[in-house]
Amino acid sequence: MSAYLITNVSVVGGAPTDLLIRDGVVAGTGTGLAAPDATAVDGTGLVALPGLVDLHTHLREPGREDAETVESGSRAAALGGYTAVCAMANTSPVADTAGVVEQVWRLGREAGLVDVQPIGAVTVGLAGEHLAELGAMADSAARVRIFSDDGHCVADPRLMRRALEYVKAFDGIIAQHAEEPRLTEGAQMHEGEVSTRLGLTGWPAVAEEAIIARDVLLAEHVGSRLHICHVSTAGSVEVLRQAKARGVRVTAEVTPHHLLLTDEKAATYDPVYKVNPPLRTDSDIAALRAALAEGVIDVIATDHAPHAVEDKECEWAYARPGMLGLETALSIALDVLGPQWDLIAERMSRAPARIAGLADHGHDPAPGVPANLTLVDPAVRRTIEPAELASRSRNTPYARMTLPGRIVATFLRGEPTVLDGKAVK
Ligand code: DOR
Ligand code: ZN
Repeated sequence: MSAYLITNVSVVGGAPTDLLIRDGVVAGTGTGLAAPDATAVDGTGLVALPGLVDLHTHLREPGREDAETVESGSRAAALGGYTAVCAMANTSPVADTAGVVEQVWRLGREAGLVDVQPIGAVTVGLAGEHLAELGAMADSAARVRIFSDDGHCVADPRLMRRALEYVKAFDGIIAQHAEEPRLTEGAQMHEGEVSTRLGLTGWPAVAEEAIIARDVLLAEHVGSRLHICHVSTAGSVEVLRQAKARGVRVTAEVTPHHLLLTDEKAATYDPVYKVNPPLRTDSDIAALRAALAEGVIDVIATDHAPHAVEDKECEWAYARPGMLGLETALSIALDVLGPQWDLIAERMSRAPARIAGLADHGHDPAPGVPANLTLVDPAVRRTIEPAELASRSRNTPYARMTLPGRIVATFLRGEPTVLDGKAVK
């Protein structure tokens, strides 16, 4: 195993220090460290963060390898500063058996660029009718702890209750895509002034809020852990705030795009802005940002949703929802939060690692911790060129935008996956 000496780097915004990485762990910190055998990395002006952890990534393998593979998505993740991603279950076939989650887990190990932790489906085929083999997925080599039908809501309250009861035995989590399907039939964008103006069918905020309200009550009743995917409205924040104040075991995530972009983007009719849940309003953004600062929202998760050209470069109504996120998330966080490094580390690494139970991740670089970390240059501004992304897909909403921050290096268990801003393999 190799050794790296990162000199003069700010660890999570602190005073510059050196970081020695050896045998997969942080072997030492302090000024003036010497390690003649180690490869030197000049950390001047850089910030070291615990490797980012994404609770919500779509890798598309198996089934849509034209849009993304475990390997291409892993490379995009590493370039974005991630050392672990949780892979959503809406693949084809669906990750609803031990066999499929083990396949995804094994492909992640083979790629070796980030730790890929599969999420299992809650219901067979995401059809919302019968519980999937939750226990078999939990006992498999993939050791699944989070289950989600993401892309679909577990709408049947009895099934949701049974899923919560089932995972309680092993302290698992149900991650809900909160969307009351009867309230969003035919929906194309956020229901509000802009949808009225454009004449597009609206997706009302209450369709999300009603499911979150129901599910925090169910989780409270059962005593299980609930996680809410991609919270997008001010009303959802209020429901979560009250539930957390009562001690309900609920956690929540927000995406970078819901922190930055509004429903006004739909007026372009460019399907790159079509996403589920839809982009909301300025007042929702303000509430989401406040909730993130306060801790009512625990995590920034990307909902990285690669789509092939034919599924995005078409009429708005026919386009698939979703946008890329892994390679731009840290820049959006920096743009939205500024250099609040401790908050960024908490919301993008420590909290998601804790929620997912990824024990090797989410630790600030310190002697003895696994060397899963990323080095950020906050002074660089870069212009996003879709053609330069490592993802197989091109559906970034940030094309040609200039954003702050660049990932200079990422280390997974002491080995670089990214150096000088480039993927190592
Ligand atoms: O925009 C979205 N895209 N939302 C989802 O819930 C699913 C995802 C996808 O799989 O493309
Ligand atoms: Zn999703």
